[in-house]
This record gives sequence, C-alpha cells and structure tokens, in this order.
Amino acid sequence: MKTPQLLENAPYSETQRAWLGGFFSGIRTQLMQNTGAVNATTAQTLHILYGSQTGNAEAVANDAATAAKAYGLKPVVTSMDAIDSDALAAMDTVLIVTSTYGEGEMPDNAQMLWEAVSADSMPQLPNMKFSVLALGDTGYDLFCKAGIEWDNRLAELGATRIYDRVDCDVAFEAAAESWISSVIPQWGSKDAASMVVNTETAAPKSQYSRKNPFPAKLLVNRLLTSTDSSKETRHYEISIAGSALSYEAGDALCVVPTNSPDLVAAIINAIGCKGDEIEPVNGEAISLQDALRTQFEIKSPSKELVQEIATRSGNQELNGLLSTGDKEGLAKYLWGRDTLDLLLQNPLCEFAAAEFIALLKPLQHRAYSISSSGKMHPDTVHLTIASVRYDSFDRPHNGVCSTFLADLVDAETEVRCFFTPNKVFRVPKDNSLPIIMVGPGTGIAPFRAFLQERLHRKATGKNWLFFGDRNAVTDFIYRAELEAMQANGVLTRLDLAFSRDQAEKIYVQDKMREHGAELFAWLEQGGYFFVCGDAYHMAKDVDKALLDIIAAHGQLSEQQVIDYVNQLKKDKRYVRDVY
Ligand SMILES: Cc1cc2nc3c(=O)[nH]c(=O)nc-3n(C[C@H](O)[C@H](O)[C@H](O)COP(=O)(O)OP(=O)(O)OC[C@H]3O[C@@H](n4cnc5c(N)ncnc54)[C@H](O)[C@@H]3O)c2cc1C
Ligand SMILES: NC(=O)c1ccc[n+]([C@@H]2O[C@H](COP(=O)([O-])OP(=O)(O)OC[C@H]3O[C@@H](n4cnc5c(N)ncnc54)[C@H](OP(=O)(O)O)[C@@H]3O)[C@@H](O)[C@H]2O)c1
Ligand SMILES: Cc1cc2nc3c(=O)[nH]c(=O)nc-3n(C[C@H](O)[C@H](O)[C@H](O)COP(=O)(O)O)c2cc1C
Repeated sequence: MKTPQLLENAPYSETQRAWLGGFFSGIRTQLMQNTGAVNATTAQTLHILYGSQTGNAEAVANDAATAAKAYGLKPVVTSMDAIDSDALAAMDTVLIVTSTYGEGEMPDNAQMLWEAVSADSMPQLPNMKFSVLALGDTGYDLFCKAGIEWDNRLAELGATRIYDRVDCDVAFEAAAESWISSVIPQWGSKDAASMVVNTETAAPKSQYSRKNPFPAKLLVNRLLTSTDSSKETRHYEISIAGSALSYEAGDALCVVPTNSPDLVAAIINAIGCKGDEIEPVNGEAISLQDALRTQFEIKSPSKELVQEIATRSGNQELNGLLSTGDKEGLAKYLWGRDTLDLLLQNPLCEFAAAEFIALLKPLQHRAYSISSSGKMHPDTVHLTIASVRYDSFDRPHNGVCSTFLADLVDAETEVRCFFTPNKVFRVPKDNSLPIIMVGPGTGIAPFRAFLQERLHRKATGKNWLFFGDRNAVTDFIYRAELEAMQANGVLTRLDLAFSRDQAEKIYVQDKMREHGAELFAWLEQGGYFFVCGDAYHMAKDVDKALLDIIAAHGQLSEQQVIDYVNQLKKDKRYVRDVY
C-alpha cells in the first residue's frame, strides 16, 4: 500500500499554489464566521479521500486539509487508489471528495476502492463519521452520481453522516468553500488562534489563477489538417510571458471563451429584444448584448430554458418528451439543436431580457490538454484543438471555445486562461522506463508534450506512440515533427491507424493488438501506459484491447488480468486523460 500523501509534503506546483491562494481567502472568511465547533485538545486525524480524474477534486481535498489544519485537526489527504477497503474500514473520520466521470461513473482512481466498498463482503462501519462533497456537471444526466453512491453506501454500512452531501456543478468553488467551512468545524476547534492559516507554502507566485485568469495573447493559430480534410484541427501557441505561471507536460489549460457576436445578435433578435437593455449580472449593470457575449452559455440550452420554451410554445413533441421523462428521446431531440434553433423553431417564445438571462447557465471555460513541454517552452503553451463545426437545421453551428480561438481571436484579443494540473498524468520520473502513448485525434496533444519532455530530459527510456485519425493524406497532424523524433531516436515506435483509408475501419486498438506481444513486453519492463482522447468509445475499446493483450501474452486468468491492471493503475502506470 502506498504511503498516504500528507498535506505538508504535498508537492504543490506553482499553478496549484496560485489556485489555492485565491481559494483560501474565501474559506478563511467563512471559517471565521462559523460556530458550533467541538473542542479538540489533541490533534484528531481527519482522513480526506479524493476521487479525481483531472485534479478538481484533488485540489478541493487539499483545500479542505489546509482548512482542517487551521482548525487544529491533523488532515491526511489520500488518493482513493492508494488505500484498500481494510484501510478505509479502520478510519473513523472521513471526508470524501469525488468527481463523476464517463456516464455516471467513478473517476479512474476511485474505481477499485469503490468496487471493494460496494461488495457484499465489506464490513459495517459503525464507528465512521463522514461527509461527501460531489463534483459534477448538471449537463450530464447522472449528475454527481459517484458522490451520491459514496454517500449512500457509507450510510448503508452504518457510518454516520456528520454533514449532508453537497453536490457541485461545474463552477464548484463557492459550494466547495461553503462545504469545507461547514464540515470542518464539526470536528475541529474554533480556537481563533489556530485559525490563522499558514499560507506560506500556498503563497501564489503569480497573481493569476482560476479565479483570476491570465489575459494571454494568442501568438500562433495554424491549421494542422489539410484544407480538404473532413475535419479541422488547429495548433495554437498562447503566450504566458509575464504571468509568472508555469506548467508541466500532462497539465491542461482552461480557456475562458466569449460567444460569437453573430450568434448573440441572432438570439437577441429571436427573443424580441434590442440588446441595449441594462441588466444586473454578478453585481454589475451591463447590456443584454454584453451579458450574452461574455457571461452566459448561449449555444447549449440549459434544462430550464428548454422547459420554458416547451411551456411557452406548447410544442407537443418537446412537452411529451419532458413530461414522460424520456431522457434518451430528449437527448435525441436536442442533438444538433442549439438555443437559437429552439427559439427559431418555437417562434412564440419572446422573452424580456431579465427573464431570458435568468434561464441561462454561466459561460464556462473549456479545458485543453497542453501539447508542449513547459521545460522546452516556458513562455508559451501549445494546444491542439479540433474546431467543432457542423450544419444542422439549415444553419452552420460552431462550438463556442474551439471557434472562438479559431475565428474570433486576433492579436489584440485577450485569451483568458488558467492551468489545471494533472498530477498523475506525468512523464515518469525515472527516465529509463519505457512509455506507451495511445492518442488518436486530438488525443495526441499531451504526447507531443511528453516527447518534448523526454527529449529535454535526454531520457533514455523507449517511447511508443499509437496515433490515428481519419485519413493519412489530410489528417496526419504533426507528421514532420513525429518523423523527426523518429529520426533522432526519441520516438522509438510509431504505429498509425488511419480509419477511413480503407473499407474496414482500422483503429489504434487494432494496432495495439497487432503488436500485443511487444506491448506486453514493454509493460513487463516497467512501462507506463497512457491514453488520451475520446472517453466514450476510444478509451473503452483501448481498455478492452489492453486487457486482452495482457491475458493473451501474459497467459493470465481473468482474475489475474484484473489484478495486473489494478496494480498498473495503483502504480500510476496506467493513466488516462479522456474527455
Ligand atoms: C481534460 C480535457 C482535455 C481536453 N483536451 C482537448 C484537446 O486537447 N483538444 C480538443 O480539441 N478538445 C479537448 N477537450 C474538449 C474541449 O474541452 C471542448 O469540449 C471542445 O473543444 C468543444 O468545445 P466548444 O466550446 O468548441 O464546443 P461547445 O460549444 O461546447 O459544443 C460542443 C457540443 O456541440 C454539440 N455537437 C458537437 N458536434 C456535433 C455534431 N456533429 N452534431 C450535433 N451536435 C454536435 C454537442 O452537443 C457537443 O457537446 C478536452 C476536454 C477535457 C475535459
Ligand atoms: N466527449 C466528447 O464530447 C468528445 C470526445 C472526443 C472528442 N470530442 C470532440 O470531437 C472533435 C474531434 O475529436 P478528435 O480529433 O479528438 O477525434 P475524432 O475525430 O473523433 O477521432 C479520431 C480518430 O479516432 C477514430 N475513432 C472513432 N471511434 C473510435 C474508437 N471506438 N476507437 C478508436 N478510435 C476511434 C476516428 O475514426 P472514425 O471517425 O473514422 O470512426 C478517427 O480516426 C473535437 O472537437 C473534440 O473535442 C468530443
Ligand atoms: C468526459 C467527462 C464525463 C463526465 N461525466 C459526468 C457525469 O456523468 N456526471 C456528472 O455529474 N459530471 C460529469 N463530468 C463532470 C466532472 O465530474 C466535473 O468536470 C468535475 O469537476 C471534474 O473533477 P475532477 O477534475 O476532480 O475529475 C464529466 C466530465 C467529463 C470531462
């Protein structure tokens, strides 16, 4: 079993420190306002377990730990894959912070512990006191399902819920702060002296963070796919010079977009407004036009807006789907229909500016896996982004953020951005170990960064990339770079799967199977297995192929394969950055 990571030893990167710096002031204020604490004479251990795919839950767990320390507790922050069910059963004070992934699934690092805890053999937990913070996104049908399952299961096992579960939407910070400042005093001392948080280790070097995104400049916007390709993938270089921010290969950059002025104008017209209506938004009075441009999600309709349009229009099909709770039918109906389509197809739906705004969700940032190494490119961040463009209902539709970068940003435009560290998706510290990277489509992004990192470190370990896309002639992105990496020996193996170059589709997992014996040999040599790209189809099929390869070439039973893969996951040698 791995040693739990103590907060004081936590190796915060600069980007995490920046994030925490902003987070703390809020928590501290809320803690100071709290009462009702239990006196703790000796430091009581508080276990904070996190299930996290891309670092949000982990960051919140660390924040909870810092707050707990300020309350005289001894927090122990642990990734869920670092403990087994026996270790969990021995804990008496537990905070669970977990996101939900896939379609209502546990994040990768929570899966094994969850399986053990949900088994019939799991003992009762009568001595445990717990609370759950669930991170999720209301855009998904199974909102916060992983957190809900943990909450229900621990209660079912006889543990005492000391504070009600809080479910957080994409903008989770305020709800997380509130949960931390409510739950910690249930255990800690409210002695004011102990509430002085030592922020020395968390002091941000940069003033920029998730709460205060850096206004960056876009230096490069280059088409990677050919002009006659069936898709459009672009390479971007964003300057972070002067920000005092830094990043590591494997991290993501979150970009805060603004909406297309054309779409804003069309929506204002469709709801029967003028655009100059002044409305209060986040404490500021701004015009409807500016609000729709910068503050609200106007492409993908919120559930509330869909419901209101159905009610006002009397649209029978839509009302039928909503009233019967036919989620699949509703998703099918909404596929390819954006807010403007709904308004145009239901022309009775006029709204006052304030009414309309009240039905919208805040405009969210989009995450992008960084495709450069921070060591090789300390002043720029490279991104590899497929532009979302499709035609439906007789009009072109554009993804908000991918086409903001592609079409709307010029030399003067500020690209507001911040980093999300992904501490497990990292080039191994040991430069001699082999790495296997599976990244079709835009999934190649972090592996370009990994190869740069290995080159920079003069790492001797072998590197194997599985890449694929639709057609070799038009979609073999970064071809010259990859071939140069092969020529200079950094890229030991490159296996390519161009799906549409022949009648039968060929995917990266077919190439993995073809070279299964060698792939297994690399794993046996201590190799790391990384996957990036589509979560819903590719990552699942690649997982299946990996299991089959291990079974065939390791000559292992079904249970032995599961154990083998679980060990890879525990050792962080099988990690995924999937979306
Ligand atoms: C950790 C992480 C890393 C990521 N890394 C990358 C990366 O490196 N590169 C990259 O390109 N993306 C990456 N993404 C995805 C990225 O965050 C955005 O989701 C993507 O760019 C689309 O955002 P958008 O604002 O352009 O589109 P949005 O405005 O969000 O629109 C997307 C929506 O449009 C609809 N839609 C899309 N295509 C169609 C269609 N053909 N027909 C009908 N409806 C359709 C769907 O409802 C879809 O959800 C990553 C995501 C995560 C979570
Ligand atoms: N969850 C999501 O919403 C999601 C996930 C991933 C990507 N995207 C978005 O889609 C756009 C394009 O993405 P992209 O360039 O990364 O990839 P992509 O164009 O969807 O696919 C890249 C390659 O993967 C192949 N592929 C399809 N199904 C596969 C499977 N089951 N196993 C293995 N390979 C498979 C594709 O083949 P064929 O197309 O020929 O079948 C293609 O050759 C981007 O905007 C991205 O953000 C969205
Ligand atoms: C591919 C993908 C699938 C997701 N699936 C769900 C889901 O089914 N339910 C949900 O509530 N949230 C879902 N989310 C949202 C995440 O839980 C949310 O973004 C969370 O803040 C991520 O935290 P983490 O970085 O700790 O993993 C999904 C996000 C992604 C990118």
